[in-house]
Amino acid sequence: MKLIIINGPNLNLLGKREPEIYGSASFDDFFKELQLQFKTIELSYYQSNIEGEIIDKLHEVGFDYDGVILNAAAYTHTSVGIGDAVKGIETPVVEVHISNIHAREEYRHKSYIAPNAKGVLFGFGLKGYELAIQSFL
Ligand code: DQA
Repeated sequence: MKLIIINGPNLNLLGKREPEIYGSASFDDFFKELQLQFKTIELSYYQSNIEGEIIDKLHEVGFDYDGVILNAAAYTHTSVGIGDAVKGIETPVVEVHISNIHAREEYRHKSYIAPNAKGVLFGFGLKGYELAIQSFL
């Protein structure tokens, strides 16, 4: 089983950025824990602040991997291009958000990814990534 977590803009700042919303753990430390927890899964991680790089990564993994766990962060609410990439690839995509996007500003309620995602998890903190992995097992 080959899965990849793809994180979008500003998620490289996890642990430092708005900790009251996103928590105080860095994603690198959390990812090491995930790898220990899911030893039998080939789990990789990619982060980019650049929309086109996220699209390129989706194309690269999207006909080969068993699943993508995608937190496109702010691009979720704006990017027709990432939405089209999710639609265009074969690999199922689970959309994840750390915060409850529906309890926040109106502009965070819209997702260009959700219509073509296998499922969406939001509001469970970093645990959402763990639940997303479990959804592929
Ligand atoms: C986020 C929610 C987005 O609205 C926001 O732009 C992010 C993070 C989340 O994980 O809660 O950067 O995707």
